[in-house]
Amino acid sequence: MADIAVMGYGTVGSGVVKVLETNKSLIGRRAGQEIFVKYVLDLRDFPGDPIEKKITHRFEDILEDASISVVVEVMGGLKPAYDFTRRALEAGKSVCTSNKELVATHGQELIEIAKKNNVNYLFEASCGGGIPIIRPLNSSLTAEDIDEISGILNGTTNYILTEMSEKGSDFETALKEAQELGYAERNPEADVEGYDACRKIAILSSLAFGRTVRYEDVYTEGITKITPLDIAYAKKMDMVIKLVASGFKTGEGGTKYNCLVSPFMIGFSHPLSRVNGVFNAVFVHGNTLGDSMFYGSGAGSLPTASAVVGDVVDCVRHLGKTITIIWDSEKLVLSDIKTVSRSFFLRVPSKDLDRAKELFPVKEVIRLDSSSDEVGIVTDVISEEAFERAANSLGTVISRIRIAI
Ligand code: HSE
Repeated sequence: MADIAVMGYGTVGSGVVKVLETNKSLIGRRAGQEIFVKYVLDLRDFPGDPIEKKITHRFEDILEDASISVVVEVMGGLKPAYDFTRRALEAGKSVCTSNKELVATHGQELIEIAKKNNVNYLFEASCGGGIPIIRPLNSSLTAEDIDEISGILNGTTNYILTEMSEKGSDFETALKEAQELGYAERNPEADVEGYDACRKIAILSSLAFGRTVRYEDVYTEGITKITPLDIAYAKKMDMVIKLVASGFKTGEGGTKYNCLVSPFMIGFSHPLSRVNGVFNAVFVHGNTLGDSMFYGSGAGSLPTASAVVGDVVDCVRHLGKTITIIWDSEKLVLSDIKTVSRSFFLRVPSKDLDRAKELFPVKEVIRLDSSSDEVGIVTDVISEEAFERAANSLGTVISRIRIAI
């Protein structure tokens, strides 16, 4: 029997206990031995809950118990999760987590500590909830030179954008509805400003490209400025607006890298355009594989817990042996976003269209109706810097959205 401890009995932690209970015998068969939750660490007590007697408020109970081989860290945040994780690994216990903030900030270092102690630090649930993507990057895709990894990595914002698109609602109304349904936090900043997706793409890009992408270096723009009119233009162009997080090769011969989180207009030929509601997806392009996409439930108690428990099974299967994860401490230098080129969509007052045509490489002009006092413009490929310069010269750009090719 493998004894484990769960740190944090919130949404994911209670899900982990539930998944282990629901699929107890088949998980035991797959792990090679029964997995038993011996401790649940939380500040609170849970009278009447089946884990009531397993609750401890002392991390040292877990640390000092030699029978504990795997610790599940689903507390979230950096403090005290970082300290607890480090100490558990140093004590020879594997750690499985859903904590994207911790993985994005200290993941590489914790993988190294795990390696030195012949244990594992696994984090499948940190990106895309229940979607298998970390393990495919570490094993199935190791033959690939990956040139792009892009995803819809945040369920809250994808739900809001889908609602705005399907119901014509504005951002505030869609956010309120998402909060009422439990799809958005009371303080939605981390989701709607793109910070959550930023951590996730930093982790995925680090694994895809093998060097450390610092989340602080990732250009991040959220969805708060997207309006129903932007969405109406997208519809007219047979496109959708999605919050896309992307890490990709750029520059001559693909020798540089860039990483960003931003709303994008994407055409229906792109597989990410069909990902709606709270669902997430990760699109990977490899030089010999071509396109591949991983799709599923990106959040929620049981899907996320399922990924955590899958990691626990892997740890139990590999007791005393470290699973290889290629994530170098060397920083991946990202090129300045200003040097990246792409097409843009912008809205300008109709009276400024002629001037806009002088400043931007206009490919197409879109009118929602002939009486409107504004027009939409699609540009040819232009660098971010040149676009910004032209937009500043015009001075009357109403909104602008990047276009994915
Ligand atoms: N707030 C996140 C989301 C939860 O909406 O996707 C999963 O990380």
